[in-house]
Amino acid sequence: MKVIKVKNYEEMSEEALKVMLSVVSENPNAVLGLATGSTPLGLYAKMAQDHRENGTSYANCRAVNLDEYVGLDASSDQSYVYFMRENLFKNIDIKLENTHIENGTAADKEAECARYNALLNELRQDIQLLGIGSNGHIAFNEPGTAFDSVTHIVDLAESTIKDNSRLFKSIDEVPRQAFTMGLSNIMNAKKVLILANGEGKANAVRELVKGEAREEVPATVLQSHPDCILICDEAAGKFI
Ligand code: GLP
Repeated sequence: MKVIKVKNYEEMSEEALKVMLSVVSENPNAVLGLATGSTPLGLYAKMAQDHRENGTSYANCRAVNLDEYVGLDASSDQSYVYFMRENLFKNIDIKLENTHIENGTAADKEAECARYNALLNELRQDIQLLGIGSNGHIAFNEPGTAFDSVTHIVDLAESTIKDNSRLFKSIDEVPRQAFTMGLSNIMNAKKVLILANGEGKANAVRELVKGEAREEVPATVLQSHPDCILICDEAAGKFI
């Protein structure tokens, strides 16, 4: 794993932009694996700015997102489909029909997992962007998820419900389940870019870089990825 330590969130986002742009300039048809959460917001703002100012085009790119809450769709401003549209897609020239995410309100959840998994097998990510949960989860692969897992439904960990409740009116509104790409879908990406900022991520980052690879800390699966880049700020990287 290549580790890039920077001072702060701004520099983390700037470095992440360089990696993203190198992938898109090398391959204008790239498949971009994208993530939600607070961590990539700075990168998404910089992608939008670069698109406006320098004309980087995503018109031929495809996007696949990591995860979605069960029960939420684009009409909910807490859904990840809404998040992506508001924070990135509407600010660049990617075609919405080329953007993909699990359907949170699918009636048949198992069929939805199978559909998304088949799609991921067709659209291998040229780059997969990731944040990291404070408990070491990636996407919504909670501690104990098998390293060879594919798209599935998860019961969210109590710590994740608590962490993510800051974005909801109350903790009771946080969905208890989510669809998520599995760890093997993530490992299938040609390149992985994982971002971490803030002290709350320091323990998870230590495990990611220095811990033994084990299913209790899902992010440690990345240790065996052939092209994984971690960009973290000083606070998140204080133990490495
Ligand atoms: C959520 C998402 C993850 C994300 C993580 C960290 O649970 N499913 O993809 O990486 O939380 O979120 P944040 O970036 O807001 O700290």
